[in-house]
Order: sequence, then structure tokens, then C-alpha cells
Amino acid sequence: TRRIAVSGAASGIGRSLAALLRTQGDDVVGIDLEDAEVCADLSTASGRSEAVEGVLERTGGALDAVVACAGISAVRPATVAVNFFGVTELLAGLRPALAASRAPRAAFVGSIAGTAATVPEVVDACLAKREAQALDAAAAAAARGEGNRIYPSSKAALARWMRGVCLTGDWAAAGIPLNAVAPGVVLTPMHAAHAMTEDQRKSVDEAVPMPLGGYAEPEVIARALRWLVSAENTHMTGQVMYVDGGAEATLRGPDR
Ligand code: NAI
Repeated sequence: TRRIAVSGAASGIGRSLAALLRTQGDDVVGIDLEDAEVCADLSTASGRSEAVEGVLERTGGALDAVVACAGISAVRPATVAVNFFGVTELLAGLRPALAASRAPRAAFVGSIAGTAATVPEVVDACLAKREAQALDAAAAAAARGEGNRIYPSSKAALARWMRGVCLTGDWAAAGIPLNAVAPGVVLTPMHAAHAMTEDQRKSVDEAVPMPLGGYAEPEVIARALRWLVSAENTHMTGQVMYVDGGAEATLRGPDR
């Protein structure tokens, strides 16, 4: 039995992952705003500390894996707080609890949106761990009509953060793989919240073309995460694994 902390465990991808892991006999500690073993708000520094302390209390400070799934896709600065700082601070805060595991693993959910146009000031402030500055830059972007770049910025920053830390003594040199799964469109409550007109659907399908299989069920993403944090994954780290129906391959094309 592996003991695994999963954020966003009350809905969508996190909920699906928690169910898959429990079915295979793992001990899951879910983190979410409500309906979870540890209830905490990952949009604030104090909420993140509560989440870390709550997990450590329940587990006696020993974990085998951490998977950060909690995220929001609002056109608001809070998206940066939850998606970037709520992921990186949770992973960093729980990392010491992985030290005693024989197969410690960590992963989070990125997005194909991380390859779209960003707000560079938001990404830079995230990577500099300046949360207030990142939120201000996101607010400024929204004010000039670039609010739809906030979510991509949060996901692009996550991928860059991962590449920056994954080889350090905290992660690879401590034997801990750290990876991301980047979905295309997934049929979760987050997706359903964006009630779409036919035109909006067309523009989503242009931005996220999914020739293989179309929109994914959350279990599809959960299975990839399950493998990334399993003992089987001994040598993959620092990677964004696109489980996106071919969106990334389509957008990149064969020439680069
Ligand atoms: P969801 O809305 O079904 O689930 C997200 C969960 O995160 C919810 O249970 C929510 O309560 C929790 N959460 C949100 N803010 C929180 C906070 N401040 N503190 C604690 N928990 C919080 O969404 P879904 O689709 O399962 O999303 C999971 C991840 O997948 C997110 O990181 C999202 O960006 C990513 N993703 C989703 C895609 C989709 O099409 N649904 C596509 C690409 C990435």
C-alpha cells in the first residue's frame, strides 16, 4: 500500500485519480476546499500551510507520492494563486515527507494551454516566487484585455518551475521523479462550467485540436498520473507528458 496525497480530490481529474488509487489499495489523503480528508484553500499562503500540516498530521509525516490536481481556469488573478503557487508550494511543503519512501514520486496537472501565448511578467514573477507581483501582473493583463492569457501563464510557469527544480538535490538527486501530465480538453466540472455556444466550441477545437479520441474522460488523465507516481516510473523526470488527443503534436507540427 502506497500513501498518496492528491489535491483537487473532490472533483474531476483529482477525484478520478483518488478513486483509481483507492481501487488498487492505496491510501489516499485528499486535499480540497471541501469534501476531502484535508480541507484547505490552496489560493492563500496560510491555506497552503494548513494543507501541508493537515496531510503531515494524518500521515505521521510519511508519504509515497504527491499529486497536485487542484486548479481553476478563471480569467482572474486567483488562477495564478491556485494553479502556480498552490501547486509549487504544496509540492515543496510535502516533499520532505517523501524522504522515507522506497519509491517517492511527485506529479501535477499542467495543460496544453501552457504552450499558448502567456503574459511574460506573470510567468517571470511566478518563477521569482513573487506572488503579489504575479497577481498584480495578471490583474494588469486582464485590464488590458489579455485575461485569457492568465491561465496559460500559470501552466507555462509550472512547466518551467519543474525543469528548474527537478534535477536539484530536492528531487532527482533525492531519488524523486517530478513530472506533469498536460491534458487537452477533459470532460470534468471545470469544462462543463464553460457553457459553450457553437462558435465557442469551434474556437476551442481550433486552439486544442484533438484528432485522437476527442475530448477525454478524467480517467484517461488519472491513469497517466497513476503511472507517473507508481514505482514503475524509475527514470522519467522533468517531463510534460501530453495526454491531449494529439493537440500538442498538431500545434507543433513536424518541423520543430
Ligand atoms: P475540477 O473543477 O473538476 O476540479 C478541480 C478541483 O480543484 C475542485 O475539486 C476544486 O474544488 C479544487 N480547487 C479549486 N480551487 C481550489 C483551492 N483554492 N483550494 C483547494 N482546492 C481547490 O477541474 P478538473 O478539470 O478536474 O481540473 C483539474 C486540473 O486539470 C486543473 O489543474 C486544470 O487546470 C487541469 N486541466 C483541466 C482541463 C479540462 O479540460 N478540464 C484541461 C487541462 C488541464
